[in-house]
Amino acid sequence: AHAPAARHFLRDDDITPAEQAQILDLAAQIKADRWARTPLAGPQTVAVIFDKSSTRTRVSFAVGIADLGGVPLIISTASSQLGGKETPSDTARVLERMVAAIVWRTYAQAGLEEMAAGTTVPVVNALSDDFHPCQLLADLLTIREHRGELAGLTVAFLGDGASNMAQSYLLAGATAGMHVRVAAPASFAPTAAVVADAERRAAETGGSIMVTTDPVAAVTGADVVVTDTWVSMGKEDEKAHRVATFGAYRVDPAMMAHATPDALFLHCLPADRGYEVTADVIDGPQSVIWDEAENRLHAQKALLVWLLEQSGGAR
Ligand code: CP
Ligand code: NVA
Repeated sequence: AHAPAARHFLRDDDITPAEQAQILDLAAQIKADRWARTPLAGPQTVAVIFDKSSTRTRVSFAVGIADLGGVPLIISTASSQLGGKETPSDTARVLERMVAAIVWRTYAQAGLEEMAAGTTVPVVNALSDDFHPCQLLADLLTIREHRGELAGLTVAFLGDGASNMAQSYLLAGATAGMHVRVAAPASFAPTAAVVADAERRAAETGGSIMVTTDPVAAVTGADVVVTDTWVSMGKEDEKAHRVATFGAYRVDPAMMAHATPDALFLHCLPADRGYEVTADVIDGPQSVIWDEAENRLHAQKALLVWLLEQSGGAR
């Protein structure tokens, strides 16, 4: 019998609400017993490709793949043929002959789609310009650990609404049945298509979506407050304009005071203290950023285990 077609994780809504819950449950189990599963024992290799810089994603995938009994092959795009002489599709056809899965951090979402369409092994988005779905699994795991349940919680994201983090919060939060609010300047609103997809998901799960230019409207009564850099990778030449535009969206103690008194603060890191968040908030008692960073490891191990199972087991 043919193996089932590979499942990919290119956007947060590539998994159903039930599947998201299953992966988060698995992540919690794996966190409790770090060495329990070795589906990559052989050892099999997972390619982890970077077009952009990374600390957390690189280390958490490398450690996670090793924990699962596999070998991480970390590839810097600049020193490979990908992006220069070779297409994502041809690269995928070569890699699938040798590796169990492909993890890729890149710019355009279209490249990931091309990679996934061209291969029989799972492809995972390790951050694109549009989405950061692995980070959201870690964020949701963290929120669940601190609050017990995700459905019904209100999360407010402040800053660049068109960024990968804001857009992933819309899709992943809606999938989890959360009330997701994004506050951003009008010129940095999330893509209309992503908002529509998130609204469809929210209608299924009992969640809801609010997109506003008013940061206080977003944060008022929120259980979770999230922000991210105002200058995402690839946007460095817009830094002056962005810093001038995003000032009202800074998360400082006065902004946190609009949220519930014990609201959690999350940031995927790296952070620019004094810009999108003040030091007293990100380094203060409501911040769970170090749990969030650690949970990249557990969430991604669960994701790989699940994707390999769904895709007919490791090769
Ligand atoms: N949060 C995150 O993805 O960090 P890195 O860029 O260090 O991987
Ligand atoms: N939005 C940020 C996230 C970094 C992990 C960026 O794309 O640079």
